[in-house]
Amino acid sequence: MRILCLGGGPAGLYFAVLMKLQNPANVITVVERNRPFDTFGWGVVLSDQTLGNLKLADAVSAQLIGDAFNHWDDVELFFKGRSVRSGGHGFCGIGRKKLLNILQERCMKLGVELVFETDVQDDQTMAAQYQADLVIACDGLNSRIRNRYAETYKPDVELRDCRFVWLGTKKTFDAFTFAFEQTEHGWFAAHAYKFDETTSTFIVETPEAVWKAHGLDEMSQEDGIAFCERLFAKYLDGNPLMNNATHVRGSAIWIRFPRVVCERWVHNAAIEGKQVPIVLMGDAAHTAHFSIGSGTKLALEDAIELTRCFASHAGTEEALQAYEAVRSVEVLKIQNAARNSTEWFENVDRYSALEAEQFFYSMMTRSQRISHENLRVRDAVWLQAYEHWLAGKAPTLFTSCNALPPEGTAAPAARQSRSRGPDLIGGDAPSEGSAVREATSVGATAPPPMLLPLQARSVTLKNRIVVSPMATYSAVDGLVQDFHLVHLGARALGGAALVFVEMTAPCAEGRITPSCTGLWNETQMLAFKRIASFVHASGAGAKIGLQLGHSGAKGSTQVGWESPDEPLPAGNWPLLAASEVAYGPNNQTPQAMTRQDMDRVKAEFVASTVYAAEAGFDWLELHCAHGYLLSSFITPLTNLRSDDYGGSLENRCRFPLEVFTAMRAVWPADLPMSVRISAHDWVDGGNTADDAVAIARLFKAADCDFIDVSSGQTTRAAKPVYGRMYQTPFADRIRNEVGIRTIAVGAISESDQVNSIIAAGRADLCAIARPHLADPAWTLHEAAKMQSKAVVWPQPYLSGRDQLYREIFKQKEVLAQS
Ligand SMILES: Cc1cc2nc3c(=O)[nH]c(=O)nc-3n(C[C@H](O)[C@H](O)[C@H](O)COP(=O)(O)OP(=O)(O)OC[C@H]3O[C@@H](n4cnc5c(N)ncnc54)[C@H](O)[C@@H]3O)c2cc1C
Ligand SMILES: Cc1cc2nc3c(=O)[nH]c(=O)nc-3n(C[C@H](O)[C@H](O)[C@H](O)COP(=O)(O)O)c2cc1C
Repeated sequence: MRILCLGGGPAGLYFAVLMKLQNPANVITVVERNRPFDTFGWGVVLSDQTLGNLKLADAVSAQLIGDAFNHWDDVELFFKGRSVRSGGHGFCGIGRKKLLNILQERCMKLGVELVFETDVQDDQTMAAQYQADLVIACDGLNSRIRNRYAETYKPDVELRDCRFVWLGTKKTFDAFTFAFEQTEHGWFAAHAYKFDETTSTFIVETPEAVWKAHGLDEMSQEDGIAFCERLFAKYLDGNPLMNNATHVRGSAIWIRFPRVVCERWVHNAAIEGKQVPIVLMGDAAHTAHFSIGSGTKLALEDAIELTRCFASHAGTEEALQAYEAVRSVEVLKIQNAARNSTEWFENVDRYSALEAEQFFYSMMTRSQRISHENLRVRDAVWLQAYEHWLAGKAPTLFTSCNALPPEGTAAPAARQSRSRGPDLIGGDAPSEGSAVREATSVGATAPPPMLLPLQARSVTLKNRIVVSPMATYSAVDGLVQDFHLVHLGARALGGAALVFVEMTAPCAEGRITPSCTGLWNETQMLAFKRIASFVHASGAGAKIGLQLGHSGAKGSTQVGWESPDEPLPAGNWPLLAASEVAYGPNNQTPQAMTRQDMDRVKAEFVASTVYAAEAGFDWLELHCAHGYLLSSFITPLTNLRSDDYGGSLENRCRFPLEVFTAMRAVWPADLPMSVRISAHDWVDGGNTADDAVAIARLFKAADCDFIDVSSGQTTRAAKPVYGRMYQTPFADRIRNEVGIRTIAVGAISESDQVNSIIAAGRADLCAIARPHLADPAWTLHEAAKMQSKAVVWPQPYLSGRDQLYREIFKQKEVLAQS
């Protein structure tokens, strides 16, 4: 095969190497506009894992690259006059020039033709000149070829918010260093790492607005660099910052990162009567923000995959189809992580109130790909110290950490860790008393973040797990049954700190289905009181919360296991909503609420609240999400009103706030209240995360304690972007921008995720829904997996607990030995 690589960056050169190795008969040419020793950048970073992939693909170049690498383990943060450092991260830095030179030499040894100082103007002319059977478009992020065939590739290029400049310095950093400096206009971040014996990369970035406020957009290159030198002087030890992009004029060295995604990666061109595929590779096909350091990795791994596809598929077309299919999924995964990471750096201000310890943790887990346990594997000592720090912030909890797992059940990971003190599990028998108190005493193991207590007004939650409200459609005339006692009771015994009753209506017409719960009379109140009393008397130390909500336009529908959200076959009741907008083609059109309706419904919520207090609930939540009555006011998609309750966000929130304020006035002042919102409508023209922040601010001002951050379900047209913890970024943003505590919910399914969310300060509580349907004792089981004793098991279940801990311990031991 005759292969033409247009662009001599890592992608083109490496693909040439691999295809020559695969078949020495391949005739391969790489055309590059620069000279062999030119480079636009400084050092690049690869992880140990990527180096492993290179070794499998071509051991020779991997060895040369490995030898030239500067390896380091530590990440160090400088923030608000403090520094935090942890190890075990396993990075390698190499000069871009060095990397390219290794690949160029390898190409030449294998017989690849390298053509330098040739700017490709027309790929087809060049393909004809070299009689190419295959053209690789590896001409970087501003790819001319991608633009030429944009109709096929359908690129989507999004310019991100920050400006950054890629500089070098002779200051050699011994850790991957992140330094943050605040000016009168905002934050600047420096990302610095050593890539050879004498040089480090030094990238400076700042939001566009801050960049402009300092006049950097109008400064010469020299003045802009001098500004950075002054700002980061204390990290540079007198070393200047160096620029090697001198061909770029003025402030143009500061760029906005373009995130590139292409729908298709292969264009077929007819060149001199021959069908020639022109295939995107590397930055031409995709980019991932430099803060996760994966651009070169992706380029090299594209080359590996395409080579593999040629080996495993008979025809070129099949090979190219497989390449596009495999790589586009892989790239999407990295780009999702990169998006989280990019947004974190774009919003440093949001996290600037955090103390250095938590700021560091938040930064390390910013992409949501590195979890709490990943950090433990990297640096157990540091993580343990952080867990102590976090535990020290939690209120002291004097509940009984009942009895002990049997002797000798130390988790293997804990034994191997570079622990600073005795481990509670399997160590000396801890005395009866608070897990947290023990944790905060010197040398003890701190409870994992998920099991730290939390204080909300007079209510102490024993840990951070909430059983999310979930309709069970098992009530009769709104009256809870024995089913609810057993269902909620089991979950209270199962270790969660707060168990929510499903959305409960303040009036019969406010129910979603005829089988939903209600609280509008004394009989219903007494039935709830029986459940609340059981939860309180059970000895589990759980609290019970009620979610009050009115179904609005989504009422009079069928139960979850029939056709949810579809009208009842018979016996429908009239609906109310903000405006006359039906939830779907089969749903009734609701009546737009009059002022009289509003007063009546508000009074019903108030009456229900009084009943809830009488029933002994510890916590009250107002449901303003998912398209139900109050949500129908908040989202512009269903609120078409022209009075004081429609139009601006403030107007749209007015009625939900009136209801909330009236409830707050009769709900005991020492008990907390939360509000569940849909933080995103997932459809054009709907509410977005920006609106969610504004909504949270309004509820905070109305004395709300927590925002329970859900999303969507406000319109059938919604297209949510699902994924693990997919709603947590909204909870993070609201918590850290508004300064109100949040409950994260949605696709949180394991303790590792909860630990990361709590430890990073993305939310204060995690609501777990579907996993609690599958396992009432989710919290106890997750604690057992962590081998943590900072949980209270019901006394009658203790022997089951001991067996479970033993079994899990044995499994871990087997795993550690294998
Ligand atoms: C600030 C910054 C920091 C980065 N840090 C890292 C990091 O730490 N780790 C990491 O993995 N990646 C990093 N990257 C990304 C990395 O540099 C790229 O992702 C990687 O180089 C992509 O390789 P490529 O071969 O696809 O493209 P490139 O390296 O851009 O190569 C494309 C080549 O094509 C040539 N070319 C373009 N047009 C023509 C033409 N018309 N004719 C002839 N030749 C042409 C160019 O001169 C260039 O040599 C960083 C990027 C930036 C901007
Ligand atoms: C069967 C079922 C019933 C639900 N009922 C309610 C409800 O009454 N009120 C509410 O706010 N959310 C309700 N939800 C949404 C959940 O509380 C939660 O937000 C959602 O399931 C995402 O969490 P998960 O990924 O842990 O399941 C319900 C979810 C399920 C699966």
